Amino acid sequence: MSFRVVVTTLLLFWMAGICMVLPQAEAKSNMTKQPFGKTEDGQAVDLYTLTNKNRMEAAITNFGGIVVSLKVPDRQGKLDDVVLGYDKIDDYLTNKAYFGAIIGRYGNRIAHGKFTLDGNTYTLPKNDGDNTLHGGTRGFNRRLWTAKDVSSTRGHALELSYRSRDGEEGFPGNLSVKVVYTLTDQNELEISYSATTDKDTVVNLTNHSYFNLAGQGSGDILEHQLMIHADRFTPVDQTLIPTGQLRAVKGTPFDFTKVATIGARINQEDQQLKFGKGYDHNWVLNGGSKSSPAPAAEAYEPKSGRVLEVLSTEPGVQFYSGNFLDGTIRGKGGKVYNLRYGFCLETQHFPDSPNHPDFPSTVLKPGDKYGTTTIFKFSTR
Ligand code: GLA
Repeated sequence: MSFRVVVTTLLLFWMAGICMVLPQAEAKSNMTKQPFGKTEDGQAVDLYTLTNKNRMEAAITNFGGIVVSLKVPDRQGKLDDVVLGYDKIDDYLTNKAYFGAIIGRYGNRIAHGKFTLDGNTYTLPKNDGDNTLHGGTRGFNRRLWTAKDVSSTRGHALELSYRSRDGEEGFPGNLSVKVVYTLTDQNELEISYSATTDKDTVVNLTNHSYFNLAGQGSGDILEHQLMIHADRFTPVDQTLIPTGQLRAVKGTPFDFTKVATIGARINQEDQQLKFGKGYDHNWVLNGGSKSSPAPAAEAYEPKSGRVLEVLSTEPGVQFYSGNFLDGTIRGKGGKVYNLRYGFCLETQHFPDSPNHPDFPSTVLKPGDKYGTTTIFKFSTR
């Protein structure tokens, strides 16, 4: 062995030793799997935890594709869980608030539980007064999905697949659905949805996470500052079904084209706010459907400094200000969720589109591929 080889070898051992004792500035990203209990019929449910190199962490279960927790740094680097939810699977089995779940086959409402496609009328279960909400009595939020690790250089990623059979909850066609959650090192949780069918059907998929950027259960969300890239919204009747009109937000409490706190105008005398018991409406995103995710909305919480940017390929977003939370739910860590303790930004096609031929179409045909992407990107200011 030459002198140079010996010296180099010693040097390498020495450097390796230093690396082992030095504290690691960057955490290692990874993905782990642990049991999360059982469904009503005894099937095992798992919880997958994705961590990126900034220690941001997303815990997702294959039951309902639910985002159970999302730990995000504040401006001091302190992690808090910024989504509402439950600690235990049993509460998710009966989760009426749709915390964190994948919503399908059709997100939001279909009027009178009915629609016509190719001359056939389809009848759906009514689970919201006279309407169908979020896919019916047992939507995708209450189904067990098949999970697969599809991590890549873009980040750790969890693929969830589900086959919704022809006639399930009244919808036509066998629908094969895939949802991929990717956690990137840019503190983005990307959700990409795809689906194919063997018969003409309607599809509108979204995620129903409730955010509180100050930390789940820490108070109401009225001081969050919000911006939505939409000049119009779809006004509703008293059952929250769109009237069909696209109404300008200008001069109304629905104008979030400039930053405003959620609470600033929520109690104003306004028929639409009365119907929604606050904000529970679909905003018509400027630019319509896009081929790649474009800015849809942005929320900022001043105490923590956390910023949530929502980017999407979808033409609409349902901004829901947690008006049905009433203190009867005890969530994670025993926290009680009172009125407006969380808000949702559900990217979507417009509610009741199957009954509104003028709205962007939600029809999926055999041979075509449904594909949408939404990104929840976190940062601080
Ligand atoms: C959506 C609906 C609301 C409500 C919530 C779930 O945001 O538009 O009316 O049903 O889901 O509670």
